[in-house]
Amino acid sequence: MTSAKQHIYRRYFPSLNRENQQLTYLDSAASTQVPEAVLNAIQNYYQHGHGNVHRASHQFARQATNAFESARKTIAEFIGSKADNIIWTSGTTQGCNMLANGLAYSLTEGDEIWVSELEHHSNLVPWQQLAARTRATLKCIPILNNGDIDIDNFKEHFSEKCKILAISHVSNSIGALLPIPELVRHAQQYGAKVIVDGAQAIAHLDVNVERLGCDYYLFSGHKVYGPTGIGVLYGKTEALEALQPSIFGGEMISQVSCETSTWNRLPYRLEAGTPNIVGAIGLAAALKFLKQFPLKERLNHERSLLNYALKKLREHPKVELIGTPMMRVGLISFVLKGIHPQDAATLFDQYNIALRCGHHCAMPLSKKLAKQGSIRLSLGLYNTQQEIDKLIEAIDNIMELFDE
Ligand SMILES: Cc1ncc(COP(=O)(O)O)c(C=O)c1O
Repeated sequence: MTSAKQHIYRRYFPSLNRENQQLTYLDSAASTQVPEAVLNAIQNYYQHGHGNVHRASHQFARQATNAFESARKTIAEFIGSKADNIIWTSGTTQGCNMLANGLAYSLTEGDEIWVSELEHHSNLVPWQQLAARTRATLKCIPILNNGDIDIDNFKEHFSEKCKILAISHVSNSIGALLPIPELVRHAQQYGAKVIVDGAQAIAHLDVNVERLGCDYYLFSGHKVYGPTGIGVLYGKTEALEALQPSIFGGEMISQVSCETSTWNRLPYRLEAGTPNIVGAIGLAAALKFLKQFPLKERLNHERSLLNYALKKLREHPKVELIGTPMMRVGLISFVLKGIHPQDAATLFDQYNIALRCGHHCAMPLSKKLAKQGSIRLSLGLYNTQQEIDKLIEAIDNIMELFDE
């Protein structure tokens, strides 16, 4: 891909086009930069009149409700679903907690909840808590030495005791892409509900919840070029109906007396209180922004950058890759031989390169594959081949410092 073509995407991101802007941003798995279209949508919303949704009949409230519900439709279309199957959350973490709390009633002692060893803590700790509360047993699909999940082990031990499988679509530590349709088919044969944490997949794959077949799918706005504080919980209709509300208050009710209440219809039943209206509008703007580019070209751009970075890092004598999964998207973890990842990250910062180091909120995986943690490079649409070259040059310089 020519460098002119790579810059097609970059020019839409004001934070990366400021005068004297020198930062090579390789931390999109933590949070992506925000395109101008999203900034404009947020500004426009407040500038043209802000009101609360679903409550008043005045003009600002009507405008807000229309924009908010239209945003829900945009999100639904983006993932191949319907608007009523989209629940707004504040992010993936809140979504996981809503599911863990909302499904608690369906578990009893002896039931199993399954996760995997590569989960982000957001999709692990709520299940640990739920298991403790309900006396269910938490089971973990182990990972192999290359970071892929041990699917044979999963198939051998999974049984009708399992009521919930909560699993990542893409690992936030090593970029491994999990075989979700295969996991879903297997787990559902035993009657389990399947929850997919799509936080690291939504920006890098053509996510279609119907094709995946999962019962629930979660993601965060700030990892797909949208604002922080907004996220999505998708659920099949019967799966959302099976979910008990765990946050109570305005909007989620139908009738209230001093003694008791009845619940609103879906999706509102699961959205108590004033929602993040502008966040929803901003996220819809981000997804519309993505949609304007042919999907194949966008994904090819990322794939070719990822392959380029992988090749360069693999060839480097001082770099050790952490995890070599069969299929990967979005990111690569590595260590520099003989240098603690924290020291390396500090030095990268001096070269104006933004990377993440540590255990990446996935301690079980880190303990197995990289005890001291690792450095993570994660890509966004705006990255270029020159930025990967800059990273490799910085690695050479850092290694020279340590070799002296
Ligand atoms: C795979 C995965 N799941 C869940 C989360 C939590 O997302 P949030 O902090 O937006 O709730 C993250 C964030 O890094 C993630 O990478």
